[in-house]
Amino acid sequence: MSATLTEEQLRTIAAQYGTPVYVYHAEKITEQYTLLQNAFRKSHTRFFYASKALTNINILRHILSLGCDIDCSSINEVKLALHAGFEKDNILYTSNGIAFSEIEEAVALGVKINIDSLSNLEKFGKKYGHSYPVGIRLRPNIMAGGNLKISTGHEKSKFGIPIEQLDTILALVKENDLFIHALHIHTGSEIKDVSVFMKVAGIFTDLVPHFPEVRFLDLGGGFKVPYKEGESGTDIPLLGQKVAEIIDQLSATHQRSFEAWFEPGKFLVSECGYFITEVNVLKQSGQTHFAGVNSGFNHLIRPMFYDAYHRIQNISNPEGPLRPYTIVGNICETDTFATDRELNEVREGDLLVFYNAGAYGFEMGSNYNSRFKPAQVLVSKDQTWLIGKRDSFEDLLRNQVLVL
Ligand code: LLP
Repeated sequence: MSATLTEEQLRTIAAQYGTPVYVYHAEKITEQYTLLQNAFRKSHTRFFYASKALTNINILRHILSLGCDIDCSSINEVKLALHAGFEKDNILYTSNGIAFSEIEEAVALGVKINIDSLSNLEKFGKKYGHSYPVGIRLRPNIMAGGNLKISTGHEKSKFGIPIEQLDTILALVKENDLFIHALHIHTGSEIKDVSVFMKVAGIFTDLVPHFPEVRFLDLGGGFKVPYKEGESGTDIPLLGQKVAEIIDQLSATHQRSFEAWFEPGKFLVSECGYFITEVNVLKQSGQTHFAGVNSGFNHLIRPMFYDAYHRIQNISNPEGPLRPYTIVGNICETDTFATDRELNEVREGDLLVFYNAGAYGFEMGSNYNSRFKPAQVLVSKDQTWLIGKRDSFEDLLRNQVLVL
């Protein structure tokens, strides 16, 4: 039985904490991590949670308690990981387009680093030479992922060092005596097809002979989770089996042990999250029935930014007749969550829940229109905690400097 929160639990939370509110279910995260643990061989696979998906400190601490490591995309995420209690050896900083000073800071903190530009690689070599192992983030020129905005490996992508620059990389490594311990390729998010990861593994197999000190092959994140009813995600057991074969093969060929690294974000925290909103207004125009909720792209931008689909339910009227609604927000922009979506009859004041809202939901939120960011609640072992307060009016003014 999959760990889920019932509609009744969600209604109780909405009554207690108000709306809009994000709710996270710790046991679902545990369940997802256990799936990974069961599918991959522990001796040669390491998981670094891509914390950009959701950085609430309690979520980080729960993930730490599972024995999972952490991947960061900024120096502040590195500091949050340390603050949450992760050991520096278990923190990976996969950077893109950052100033060298941030890399120096990461070295001072002692965490693992993946570098994504020739210029930073050169600066790194000049400063640290062979004294600090480092990974190289490559761009493989593979088009993959749910949509172009979340594809990072194609030939027009800003991410990583283009693989056709291998000769320059090798010259830099040699000239500066760099200690390259890892190769990294993340092709994008929502990669359903296991063969994409295998293509990456094939590239690593070709590259390994050029890098005699590489032991870690980082295939990034991007495991797909089902957003739509009836959709399936990445076949994790199959991926585990294929990765085992490749690692065994490489270890035998090169007489050194290799590890596969992964950086799952969505896979660990997407399905644990529920976003509860309340219907402010109903409006009819021609055939369209608008249900306007007390939220907008300031709280959940994925539908507008990526055309992402989130399952939505009216948990206040679960037996009501099904009717099509266009669900919109209250932001002074076109912030449509869903068009002509069948919902149980909606009345003003009803609670609409967005599912799979744990990853890149609250985390991509903002205060646009001077609206408050929502509260965040954690459910674990049937206990409920407030883990993020709703903004207050003071928060809107906190960093403003009054000069007039
Ligand atoms: N590793 C790297 C280097 C990444 O850039 C990302 C995501 C991940 C791992 C985690 O990917 P995941 O397992 O979560 O798919 N905000 C978008 C997703 C883009 C995330 C950017 N990088 C969304 O809401 O769909």
